[in-house]
Amino acid sequence: MYRSHNCGELRISDVGSEVKLSGWVQVGRDFGGLTFVDLRDRYGITQLVFNEEEDADLSAKARKLGREFVISATGKVRERSNKNPNRSTGDIEIEVSAMEVLNASKTPPFTIETETDGGEDLRMKYRYMDLRRPPVQENIIFRSSVAIQTRKYLAEQGFIEVETPVLIKSTPEGARDFVVPSRMNPGQFYALPQSPQTFKQILMVSGFDKYFQIVKCFRDEDLRADRQPEFTQIDCEMSFVTREDILNTFEGLTKNLFQTCLGRDLGNFPRMSYDEALERFGSDKPDLRFGMEFKELNEVAKGKGFPVFDSAELVVGICAEGQADNFSNKDIKKLTEWMQRPQIGAKGLVYVKVNGDGTFKSSVGKFYSDEDLQAWAEKFGAKAGDMIFVLSGETDKTRKQLNELRLEMGRRMGLMKEGDYKPLWVVDFPLLEWDEDSERFHAMHHPFTAPKKEDEERMLNGDHETMKALRADAYDLVINGVEIGGGSIRIHDRALQAKNFKLLGFSDEEAEAQFGFLMGAFEYGAPPHGGIAFGFDRLCAVLKGQYSIRDFIAFPKNNTGRDMMINTPSPIAGEQMEELYLESTAKDKEA
Ligand code: AMO
Repeated sequence: MYRSHNCGELRISDVGSEVKLSGWVQVGRDFGGLTFVDLRDRYGITQLVFNEEEDADLSAKARKLGREFVISATGKVRERSNKNPNRSTGDIEIEVSAMEVLNASKTPPFTIETETDGGEDLRMKYRYMDLRRPPVQENIIFRSSVAIQTRKYLAEQGFIEVETPVLIKSTPEGARDFVVPSRMNPGQFYALPQSPQTFKQILMVSGFDKYFQIVKCFRDEDLRADRQPEFTQIDCEMSFVTREDILNTFEGLTKNLFQTCLGRDLGNFPRMSYDEALERFGSDKPDLRFGMEFKELNEVAKGKGFPVFDSAELVVGICAEGQADNFSNKDIKKLTEWMQRPQIGAKGLVYVKVNGDGTFKSSVGKFYSDEDLQAWAEKFGAKAGDMIFVLSGETDKTRKQLNELRLEMGRRMGLMKEGDYKPLWVVDFPLLEWDEDSERFHAMHHPFTAPKKEDEERMLNGDHETMKALRADAYDLVINGVEIGGGSIRIHDRALQAKNFKLLGFSDEEAEAQFGFLMGAFEYGAPPHGGIAFGFDRLCAVLKGQYSIRDFIAFPKNNTGRDMMINTPSPIAGEQMEELYLESTAKDKEA
């Protein structure tokens, strides 16, 4: 037997019991006659005491223990004289009578504690040790409980979990595919799923009616804190449902997860159209933990002789409450430069400080009188001490830029409060996006998304301009400015699906070659259906008030898509290349 108890379990009521614990040596402290060792496992830390007078050999052995040695220790639980109120086991310690070193450890490259001195790369290389650290371990255990609760809730609602294949054909979700060469089919490749989208729709055609899967998805795209090349979705699909049914079902799931995993009641989720979200916040995933809404100023800012505004499509601003005194000329210059970085690309930044006595201090003061600026202030309901920031230019770009400024001000002003959760459904996305460069439409969500019922006829018969205005029956779940999930009602009619592929630039042959199976299935009794997928890693991170998903994934990849622990991607043997016809392809090219 290795242990009678774990390291987080013993209490004052256990005093006098004979116990055996196993775990990792967190730290040892030698006080001459007494040696203390903190023993750690995933449940907690228990203090072991070795007494020189009782057993000199054992004490000598304890003094030799290094950090992260794996040991088991037997002894009696006793009350501590100086208790540690910060530890669940802080009232007791173990007077050790026997100890066995189960395995030694080299000195770890970083401290295995809540706060570590290890940099990101080092932690990833030695992820097995990083995963011993309490905050990382907590996240992984939390993730497990969210997954278990998700399964429980969806099963109770009558959902069936079905596994779909990993070696498939490309499913366009807007990213590049990872591909796998096929040995048995020379020169041919599988694609790893960007999502199980087409399979879940096929399951609806097969009559499975309520499907879900907690499933790995793979996307070869640029990585960010909330994006990994392989990530997990709670993927769901339902038949005979309207958008309303889906929003209600998955609002139910989200509320249940917040209630059971955090004890938080989220209340009913507000809804906002895509257009309204862009107008009020410049983003289709607004963070509603704070206001600072956009106000459009065209009407009061144009025609007063300031050429930049006069020639702009949109003049729009935000008001940062009480910030006037926090911005010296130098601070404003710095913020302007921050907005002008290529990542944001603003041309300039206009400010107005509200003095409160009817006067204003502004970077465009020579074009606008105090009366003019008063009209701006009224748009925002600005008061003394407030700071108004204004941008101008082409509508979409300007809104995007102002969104960045709004978020930055929200951060600076401490408005993104931890423990505050603001969910939102964004609905009525455009169906198609026109790309000026490639002169093509792209699906805003994916090619299987249905237009809103009232737009179906226009989609089948309308002209090019009509297509730009089509609305989709698509929705996103946003929490605290993070896109947690997205879905749509699907097209289930062959003609409409064929039309959509055509609009997206597929020839009939290409559409048939890539998605013939789905359009074929639509001819054999496809029910109306729709669904949604949650980003599971993101959901876990947001639940815990964090943005980066990396620490909610046991073995994540770094920003260049590498797994630093197993050091991959890596070359494969020449023999294996040949077997997969890869080298010969390369050689063929050379020839
Ligand atoms: P979508 O592409 O919107 O929809 O993806 C659904 C959710 O998955 C999460 N997500 C990611 N999380 C981490 N890393 C990534 N690289 C990544 N990419 C996406 C997001 C996103 O909201 N098949 C559709 C769903 C449907 O229509 O039912 C789909 O995959 O949280």
